[in-house]
Amino acid sequence: MRTPFIAGNWKMYKTPSEAETFAEALKKQKLPEDVRIAIIPPYVDLVPLKEKLKGTSVEVGSQNVFYEDEGAYTGEISLPMLKEIGADCVIIGHSERRQYFNETDGSCCRKLRKVLRESSLTPILCVGEKLSDREAGEQLMVVSKELRADFSGLTEDEAARVVIAYEPIWAIGTGKTATPDQAEDMCRSIRGIIRDLYSDETAESIIIQYGGSVKPENVKELMEKPDIDGALVGGASLIPEKFAAILDFKSEA
Ligand code: 13P
Repeated sequence: MRTPFIAGNWKMYKTPSEAETFAEALKKQKLPEDVRIAIIPPYVDLVPLKEKLKGTSVEVGSQNVFYEDEGAYTGEISLPMLKEIGADCVIIGHSERRQYFNETDGSCCRKLRKVLRESSLTPILCVGEKLSDREAGEQLMVVSKELRADFSGLTEDEAARVVIAYEPIWAIGTGKTATPDQAEDMCRSIRGIIRDLYSDETAESIIIQYGGSVKPENVKELMEKPDIDGALVGGASLIPEKFAAILDFKSEA
């Protein structure tokens, strides 16, 4: 059985005091016990958020990590830094980093190896196609190429610890969600690629999230699909009541 995993990616939103206010409000909501939950805020919010969420099941993660331990890398954050503050997970290769900050499959691969070999953090690897790829019918080819490059050199034990987030770029922040069938098709194909690269066992255990305009109104239908194990939520994770409503996807209301 795969435990559902829902993470909120705050992108470049919320100051530390706003993050603390969010945490107070989230703690007042009833959170499900059988769902893995994480908030992935800007770096400056990590420590105050971790502190505020102490005693809850909510994990805290980073939006990026560099593959060197330290050095003259202005603006980067290292794995030892994230380990010391007790970060639980880390996003690797978000499409916004690929688009605006020169993230490549080569750097994603180095970051994945670093995190898996030198920490117990959960990497959330993002893959997904552009609108033009989908219009050309090349979405599977694009995602497969990304996945194979990013996983290259990972052992089966390492691969099994990766969470894969399928985020079609055309559905991010646009209000345009992939239909549950489109999302399921790709998540099933991703599981097939993992089966191909490793084994049935790893394919069946690996967690695959969908991301792109997930909200309380569409989360249930997405989560009902057999190969969608969770969600990576952007905009709707900024409002505690909305995020809690997404986490509550199992309720019948
Ligand atoms: P939205 O939910 O705002 O579309 O963002 C999705 C995303 O990029 C999460 O990483």
